[in-house]
Amino acid sequence: MNSVSRMRNRTVLVTGGGSGVGRSIAHEFAASGARVLINDIRDVGEEVANNVGGEFLKADLSDQNSVSQLAEEAIKIAGRIDILVNNAGTQHVDGVDVFPDDIWVKLIHIMLVAPFLLTKQFIPAMKENRWGRIINISSIHGLVASPFKSAYVSAKHGLVGLTKSVALEVGEYGITVNAICPGYTRTPLVEAQIDDQARTLGIEKDEVVDKVMLAPAAIKELIDPDDIAKLASFLASEEARLITGSSYSIDAGWTAR
Ligand SMILES: NC(=O)c1ccc[n+]([C@@H]2O[C@H](COP(=O)([O-])OP(=O)(O)OC[C@H]3O[C@@H](n4cnc5c(N)ncnc54)[C@H](O)[C@@H]3O)[C@@H](O)[C@H]2O)c1
Repeated sequence: MNSVSRMRNRTVLVTGGGSGVGRSIAHEFAASGARVLINDIRDVGEEVANNVGGEFLKADLSDQNSVSQLAEEAIKIAGRIDILVNNAGTQHVDGVDVFPDDIWVKLIHIMLVAPFLLTKQFIPAMKENRWGRIINISSIHGLVASPFKSAYVSAKHGLVGLTKSVALEVGEYGITVNAICPGYTRTPLVEAQIDDQARTLGIEKDEVVDKVMLAPAAIKELIDPDDIAKLASFLASEEARLITGSSYSIDAGWTAR
């Protein structure tokens, strides 16, 4: 089977698909022949949808009602979601003693509650079809912690737990659930962090990458979002049908030590 027909007849929903990792995943699945629905809170999602011949569903995943509406709209458009990629995410850096409560809760909503709600909405049709793939974009911070990222680390660890738990519940229906745990990846989210840290620490951007972000890594290179998209595509393939409940780090050795 050639790469263009591999995902024909499959519909994928990528949350936060307007930028970075989600954008690469949308392009990768579209190139494999899948129908791609792209959610984002920002209109950049529309541009990606136009580029891949997909559909844009604008919604704010921090709001539970919007998440439910997104799921309903996706089902109305496509009938069924075969592959759910829970990717949308954002960061806020603060000490736990001063972390603003509303932002803490909001991050958990975007990166953990929304994946749960979408999973719950799409699983019945996946079960009926006896096929489904759920791919959760966690992080190295789903496996280990760093200071000043309590909401992010909690959400990403929670997402790994959700991945394992749901995998055990749906395995008999041909549905797999896996997490990808990337290290620092060259996306707008990380470019903004590099700028911030260079300013705060008074050092060059290259130094922030080499000496701060990638200090624990075996290979001093930021991850390419397209590499994450290839891994997501593999996890959605037939060859990966027995891979479930797993968390794949793609982190240049960041979590190896
Ligand atoms: N970049 C990294 O180094 C890195 C590392 C590990 C994990 N991740 C994870 O990868 C995922 C994608 O991150 P990225 O680096 O591509 O970031 P990004 O900022 O480039 O893209 C994230 C997208 O999510 C969207 N989004 C944010 N809040 C949303 C909301 N409330 N509702 C709907 N959409 C929303 C944004 O508008 C944006 O388009 C995130 O879950 C992030 O935690 C990124």
